Parts: sequence; C-alpha cells; structure tokens
Amino acid sequence: MTARSLVTLELNGERREAWVFPHQTLMEVLRDDLGFTEVKYGCGEGLCGTCAVLLNGESVNACLLFAIQADGCAVTTVKGLSEGADLHPLQRSFLDHGASQCGFCTPGMVVTAYEFVREHPRAGREEIRAALAGNLCRCTGYVKILDAVEAYVRSAEADGSP
Ligand code: FES
Ligand code: FES
Repeated sequence: MTARSLVTLELNGERREAWVFPHQTLMEVLRDDLGFTEVKYGCGEGLCGTCAVLLNGESVNACLLFAIQADGCAVTTVKGLSEGADLHPLQRSFLDHGASQCGFCTPGMVVTAYEFVREHPRAGREEIRAALAGNLCRCTGYVKILDAVEAYVRSAEADGSP
C-alpha cells in the first residue's frame, strides 16, 4: 500500500495540514480533503482554468500539481481574496457587471485576473483578454468578464492602488 505524506499549507492565511497520497493533486486535496470547494473541478487536465489558485502568489492550475509539490506553500483560493463578507474590488466588479452566470468559471477567472492585474496594473482590454485565454466560460460570452476586469483596472488606476 502506498504511504501517505503529511502536507502543510498556509491556506487563505491559515495553517492547514492533510495526509496525502503521492498521486493526489492539489485540487483534489483542496476540494475533497479540506473542503475548499470553491476550487472548481472542470477538466482535470489544465485546459479550463476553473481550478486556478495562487501558489505563493502565482496563479497555477491546481489540477496540474501534486499536493506534495505544494508542501510548505501559501495557497490562496478565490475566497482568500475577500475579507470575510467584504468582497475584493475585483470580485465586486464581477458582481456589478453581471460577469457570472452559472458561476462555475468565476473562481478561476477572478484568481487569474487578480494575479494578471497585479503584475500589469495598466493593462488594456486586449491584454486582459489574452491573459484570460486559458480560462473557459460557457455562459457569458466573455464580454461581461472583460468589462468587469477592465473596470477594475480603471478604478484601481484612479485610486492609485492597483
Ligand atoms: S480543472 Fe484544472 S484546468 Fe480544468
Ligand atoms: S459563468 Fe458559467 S461557465 Fe462562466
């Protein structure tokens, strides 16, 4: 029988531990073992972006990483971007622009967009579109998602706090 290993994560700012098998992905452990079901299981093959989380601040598809590779890392899910009930301005922009319909793609969209805008605070619409090319949505037609991210970029620029 394959032995399990103890993995320690700083998950949305809290230390969490899980005993994991070598073949378990980070997505499986987050969802099935730790209950972070906001990390969505879309394709399981790195093609849809629904499972995106921040790993030490970098956006990754959690289905493409083994959980043991994340041992000792900080992991942030979409819920970790908000302060309790206070949504992050990017999340608020998604809400304000009707950028979610079924919502399945939204956690991955928000996480990916958050990291991209942090690194590209003056991004234009086409750059945003390219950055989100790996995140698939079957509902919105993408227009409202782009509207939401673009509005967030402009408001953060106006605030001087992207
Ligand atoms: S579930 Fe990870 S990229 Fe689709
Ligand atoms: S809102 Fe349904 S998949 Fe994007």
